[in-house]
Amino acid sequence: MLYILRPLTQTSSSKRRFLPGAGLAILTLSIAGVAGLLTHAQNAGLAPLAIDGPSSAVPWVRYAGWPTRDTSKFNSLTRLVSPPAPTTPRKLGKELTGDRAAGQKLVADRSRGGSCLTCHVIGSAGGADLPGNVGPDLSDIGSAGRDDEWLFNYVNDARVYNPDTVMPPWGTHGIFSEAEIGDIVAFLKTLKSPAKLAQ
Ligand code: HEC
Repeated sequence: MLYILRPLTQTSSSKRRFLPGAGLAILTLSIAGVAGLLTHAQNAGLAPLAIDGPSSAVPWVRYAGWPTRDTSKFNSLTRLVSPPAPTTPRKLGKELTGDRAAGQKLVADRSRGGSCLTCHVIGSAGGADLPGNVGPDLSDIGSAGRDDEWLFNYVNDARVYNPDTVMPPWGTHGIFSEAEIGDIVAFLKTLKSPAKLAQ
């Protein structure tokens, strides 16, 4: 652009001769053209960088199908407090009786706190694939020599055994009831064949 602004002297060798006035006119037209393009882009519906009104619908309503479960005890990123860990493991007294089929569904239930499959390989539980590998492979936990009480307490609130546990305290957070944890334990005890993982 700069060469256009420079007053060009008329020399015999120069074939391209511009007058300063003509250069300025071209520059002005170019600026007007670019500004026109920008205005056009804005009118084409690009998102504004700031908005004046509220960013959500007013009045605010839950969308249909929003879960109504009470999550007030759940430790989320908006409320970084958890109910305190139990100081001693819960004594079960007698051997747990649980529904292993119900337990199999619960461990794969992605609507209940993310499910165990988020972090564990659990054989073919729930027919689900793509398990996570944050926690140990549980596909033969039934042969690991863990008793019912230990398994119950680990799922209920692993902090009672391991203050640095990564696992959410399912019972203390109210995600699973005691009966449901019993079902989960009954299912875990049936797991005795190591998962075959694709190479
Ligand atoms: C956020 C990841 C995560 C989720 C979700 C999770 N776990 Fe774990 N789990 C772990 C980790 C990590 C360990 C190993 C040590 C620890 O951090 O407690 C573990 C350990 C365990 C153990 C002890 C294994 C052993 O013999 O030492 C059991 C049993 C267990 N999990 C069951 C479950 C069940 C049942 C669920 C679902 C209700 C579940 N876990 C969900 C991360 C998770």
